[in-house]
Amino acid sequence: MNYLQEIAYLIGSVGFIVGIKMMGQADSARRGNLVAAFGMAVAVIATLFLDKSGFHIIGNLSYILIAIVLGTIVGTLMAKRVQMTAMPEMVSIFNGMGGLAAALISIIEWTHLKHVGEVVELGLYVPIVAGLIIGTISFTGSMVAWGKLNGKLGDFRFPAQQYINAIVLVFIIAAAYFTYSTGMASDIPWFYVTLGVSLVYGLLFVFPIGGADMPVVISLLNSFTGVAAACGGFLYDNNVMLMGGVLVGSAGTILTIVMTKAMNRSLTNVLIGMAGSGGSGGGTGASGGSVREVQATDVAIMCKYAQKVIIVPGYGLAVAQAQHVCHELELLLEEEGVEVKYAIHPVAGRMPGHMNVLLAESNVEYDKLIEMEDINPEFPTTDVVLVVGANDVVNPAAKNDSNSPIYGMPILDVDTAKQIVVLKRSMKSGYAGIENALFFDPKCGMLFGDAKDSIGKLVSEVKAL
Ligand code: TAP
Repeated sequence: MNYLQEIAYLIGSVGFIVGIKMMGQADSARRGNLVAAFGMAVAVIATLFLDKSGFHIIGNLSYILIAIVLGTIVGTLMAKRVQMTAMPEMVSIFNGMGGLAAALISIIEWTHLKHVGEVVELGLYVPIVAGLIIGTISFTGSMVAWGKLNGKLGDFRFPAQQYINAIVLVFIIAAAYFTYSTGMASDIPWFYVTLGVSLVYGLLFVFPIGGADMPVVISLLNSFTGVAAACGGFLYDNNVMLMGGVLVGSAGTILTIVMTKAMNRSLTNVLIGMAGSGGSGGGTGASGGSVREVQATDVAIMCKYAQKVIIVPGYGLAVAQAQHVCHELELLLEEEGVEVKYAIHPVAGRMPGHMNVLLAESNVEYDKLIEMEDINPEFPTTDVVLVVGANDVVNPAAKNDSNSPIYGMPILDVDTAKQIVVLKRSMKSGYAGIENALFFDPKCGMLFGDAKDSIGKLVSEVKAL
């Protein structure tokens, strides 16, 4: 027996595991991605040119190579051109394609069975139908998530939606059972009924979920795609495909749990709670209180003569691409003897790790990025907090207002600092579409304007002092 293919698959699997492990740390994440890509390349080459008996060129090689070249070109162009702010949308599309690929495998394998008139064995049928259902739901669900994130689709709700969704799900399972029990003999093509209803379920499943909950859903759909791919691994008795699918499935599940924890929500609450209507730029901040507008000169003086400044980055920092000038301000203040740190909320921005990635781009040292649990006790001893384009993640309503849609979400306790300055363009709300009482706090000053311009002014003012 020739073990070359198994050894290649083992190398591929180890590449995935080591790569994922390295992605857990910001400083090794880039290399981790390369290690995992190397593992994938080894697995693909082994599949194309080896089989259990040794060297063997796979059938339809030219078609496969054309698909690989086209996929590589499209994927590279998309990844190069994508704006950081549109990253979650791209993850969603790529994930949807993974789900579609898994579903196509199931469809093709089903057609093969039909073609040779085989009796469907349960052990063969289960991975085929599971790959079909899960992959299809992941595909249409991810497409809806993509549409919602780029603002092309809104929330779509109708009465008794949760019950209808549950009925559709039961129907899918029934259709899958009829496919198995009637085999090829039935007049009704139950397999394709299962496919059609799963396509619809993916739409129904994601349509009602609020925009602010989209990252959780994307991560969940990501784990679905992993499971669908693992079904393909079972089907083909292909260990590396199975391992890859299991890793994606479990990583997606863990990320989903971490995110729901960060928002203090249960997964059920996210999926059927329909909270967070999504869409930035909702409210106008017309509460009873008044806000105090401040100028860059005043903020520069506050910062220069402070002992400790904490910068709280949020989605607006990414929109303004203010990370480089922010780093410049940080270095400048440090030269003046000010201690500067960054407070990182787990769901600041629009994707997990968004702020870490942005700040790493401008070479901010990793040990200055402090996680929420560690930085919160430091706010009371902080002279100035600069909230740069963040809103929901510093909204005290999450602690004080039980009627708020974000109630219970852990936040950065910036309201306990001595002085707070919020850098944003207007009084508009953040992603959750709700007003922020922090802006009306007497300790808080609003420095209106684009974050990059405002920080640029701060840099000039500090230099001039
Ligand atoms: P948000 O609450 O979305 O607030 C961002 C603020 O940035 C807005 O209020 C906006 O106000 C301001 N802004 C936009 N462009 C700006 C610019 N050019 N210059 C200055 N300010 C600008 O952001 P956040 O505090 O980071 O919270 C994240 C929210 O997104 C949470 O609700 C979270 O649940 C949700 N979410 C998170 C993720 C992940 S996993 N990170 C994914 C999707 C959604 P103006 O318009 O007035 O400038």
